[in-house]
Amino acid sequence: MNLDFIKNNGDIANYWNSEVVKFPNQPAILGSLPGASDLIKCLTGNFSDGNWSSPISVNINASTVLQDGSHQQILGVDVNTARNCYSNGFSLCFGDMADSIDHIARLKLKANEIFGHPELIAVTGYLSPEKAIGVLHFDRQHNFFIQREGSKRWTVSERAAVKNPHENFLYPSVTQAFLGDMKNLGYEIAIPRDCGRKTYDLHPGDVLYIPPGFYHSPETLTNHSLHYTLTVEPACFWKDFNKKMFLKLLASEGKFFADYRFMTESQKSELFRACMSEVLVNKASGSFDTSSR
Ligand SMILES: [Fe+2]
Repeated sequence: MNLDFIKNNGDIANYWNSEVVKFPNQPAILGSLPGASDLIKCLTGNFSDGNWSSPISVNINASTVLQDGSHQQILGVDVNTARNCYSNGFSLCFGDMADSIDHIARLKLKANEIFGHPELIAVTGYLSPEKAIGVLHFDRQHNFFIQREGSKRWTVSERAAVKNPHENFLYPSVTQAFLGDMKNLGYEIAIPRDCGRKTYDLHPGDVLYIPPGFYHSPETLTNHSLHYTLTVEPACFWKDFNKKMFLKLLASEGKFFADYRFMTESQKSELFRACMSEVLVNKASGSFDTSSR
């Protein structure tokens, strides 16, 4: 597995988290990731030379955009339901397959050499029938769309709707009231009309990088499309902090999870003081230094 589309494009920091980048014609991808036929065999179990291999277990979601523009999603379908959904125009999303398919595991290993934090990397697959369109949304993660079969047109905003979003965002389901509430909290989400728009056609072997917060929606141009998405969750101080703090608090024999409702004022202030001092002790001891990957 060759990730030259990332490694050879100068300093990743030049575009990371700021620019949409298309890496055209990456031939190594075509030979190293399964096509639709092989992928489906993995899901149904393959029969060859008298042996019937076990199917892999992967979560499958089916989604479509209805005529009124709303998004319909069916989560956790079995293979037969997935096939019926696909025949009825649904796109299928196959959950993280890095632990169950060797070629995809190799992609994840290579990605780990570049990005670190294996627990923040996933590889999902998307199979969509002709003319299928996807819902307009943005993600909180970095995404590399790796086109494996067929062609797909991505409409992508030219700017992020919000910098470093803390959650994913489906545009059609949002209300003005929600956007107003968020703005009042200091978290202003720009609407697609204000973020510019550009289209990118991906053919087999092309890769598209989309940073967090950039709106995007796909349209399948050929009789089917299969792409893999290499998803990289942002490495964020607060996620590390919360995880490490939680583990410390877990070992406190309940002290830091105490219910303070009916405590006396002094018991309550003692608890709060102990909690705050635990945070500061962790900082002082260097538990949250920047060298960990
Ligand atoms: Fe997305």
